[in-house]
Amino acid sequence: MTKPVSGRPLVRFPPGLALALLATVAACSSSPNGPVTTSPPVVTTLAAPTTVAPTTAAPTTSPSAPSTEPPTTAVPDASVEGIGDPYYPSLGNGGYQVARYQLDLAWDPSNGTLGGTANLHATAETELSAFHLDLTGMEVTGVEVDGAPAPFDRVGSELIISPAEPVAAGPFQVEVAYRGDPAGTTPEGSLFGPSSWHPDDDGAFVMGEPFGASGWFPCNDHPADKAQVRLQMRVPEPFAVASSGVLEGVERIDGGDRVFTWRTTRPLAPYMLALGIGRWVEEEQQGPVPMVNYMDPDLTDDETALFDRQPEMLERLVELFGAYPFDSYGALVLDDETPQAALETQTLSTFSRASLGFGSNVVVHEMAHQWFGDSVTLTTWQDIWLHEGFATYSEWLWDEADVGPDALEASVRFAYGVMGGAAAVAQGADAEEVAEELPNIFPPPGDPGPDQVFNPSVYLRGGLTLHALRLEMGDEDFLRLLKSWARRHRYGNVTTDDFITLASDIAATPVDDVLEDWLFQPVVPPMPQLGLAPVGQ
Ligand code: ARG
Ligand code: ZN
Repeated sequence: MTKPVSGRPLVRFPPGLALALLATVAACSSSPNGPVTTSPPVVTTLAAPTTVAPTTAAPTTSPSAPSTEPPTTAVPDASVEGIGDPYYPSLGNGGYQVARYQLDLAWDPSNGTLGGTANLHATAETELSAFHLDLTGMEVTGVEVDGAPAPFDRVGSELIISPAEPVAAGPFQVEVAYRGDPAGTTPEGSLFGPSSWHPDDDGAFVMGEPFGASGWFPCNDHPADKAQVRLQMRVPEPFAVASSGVLEGVERIDGGDRVFTWRTTRPLAPYMLALGIGRWVEEEQQGPVPMVNYMDPDLTDDETALFDRQPEMLERLVELFGAYPFDSYGALVLDDETPQAALETQTLSTFSRASLGFGSNVVVHEMAHQWFGDSVTLTTWQDIWLHEGFATYSEWLWDEADVGPDALEASVRFAYGVMGGAAAVAQGADAEEVAEELPNIFPPPGDPGPDQVFNPSVYLRGGLTLHALRLEMGDEDFLRLLKSWARRHRYGNVTTDDFITLASDIAATPVDDVLEDWLFQPVVPPMPQLGLAPVGQ
């Protein structure tokens, strides 16, 4: 992975004002997670550019210009240039799609190491004389392609495999034997710290976005390549393993170890694979699908009580969005204070203890992501609002159903106050300065820039975009749109254009201009129905 190519200068603003604006976000109860921070937006940088160019590398793009290169998946050895995401040109790999990961791993708490094999069943889109997997850190002890040992190279976060015979177009298998300490290995820029693998005093867990699975298993670390996973994880007693999908079995083996086998029933983006190694208290709930929570034993009753209403929430979201896309749901709740966030890991959302401070909002938010993010998944990271805007609006929809329409309106007004700068002005910031700095601090959610994919705007203005659309379309058509979006693109990958097209099909009057303005204008557009306008307009 190389540095992301940014079309936008890093955010620069008077620090005092930035803090004032961002503090207004922190005060927003309906914005769990990302936006809730009192420090300037996270600046994402990936690992330093790799120095050894793979044999067929295309010219590298200048870091000052946005990449305009089309996806390169159809070209032999295309994998060298990533999967074709303009925000992160070297992320993921092209030339093939993974159908299934079979991970056979053992974790050793005495030294924190992980080791075993990853078996990938993939389909080459074209003949490949070499291809890449993503893997950061870890020692690779052997690679086989279709059963034959294959030479490999490590360059930065790329595992470059050059089989003796080119892989023909069609299905092929790769087995990677590896081991090491996965802590601290994830390329910089993953949101949740230096690593997606987080050891703690009770075991370990995984949280990484927009990438990070490659910090603990070799994969095509981009949501555009969703695959099934079968995870076998050997751990000593008393540790237990929680992951995405269904628990197929627990096998006790010699010496007091246990092997937990988890299997997904639907494909997932690699970063959506949950993993918690700990001493979980399992708590079943009666909901529309089997529900089991895995709670750290050190959590207080008040903390675990936050999840009591999950069955109701799930039922409500099913009413709003249509059938729940997976076969089970649950919460993996850690006693760790960091990261100060939760993650919508598939079928088993992961919550740090600190994220519980956001209350029921964060519980609904991660649940809603199962439809919008896990099932209906972005194709490139520019479209992150399709995850976060939808999950944020889902919090407001839940409040609307649970508390009443006033609660929804209050959230909309609050979010608008933050995005339009009125909240900062109310706290004493200079109106003119605010008006001037707004577009730098809150970029448009439809194109936030690679350094700002988790900017508060992606969440709040993303949610407001849906509300603006609803006001335009009317409740009935809007709710029809949400359902049909979730159904039509179930288990797939989508773009903002797909959404605009579907909205335009369903709406009685044209809505593409509204969506364009809300997603791409430098400053949040007015919302005349509620008498709202940004500071200075
Ligand atoms: N996808 C995660 C969520 O919103 C991202 C959390 C971002 N957290 C943060 N501190 N920026 O559920
Ligand atoms: Zn989210």
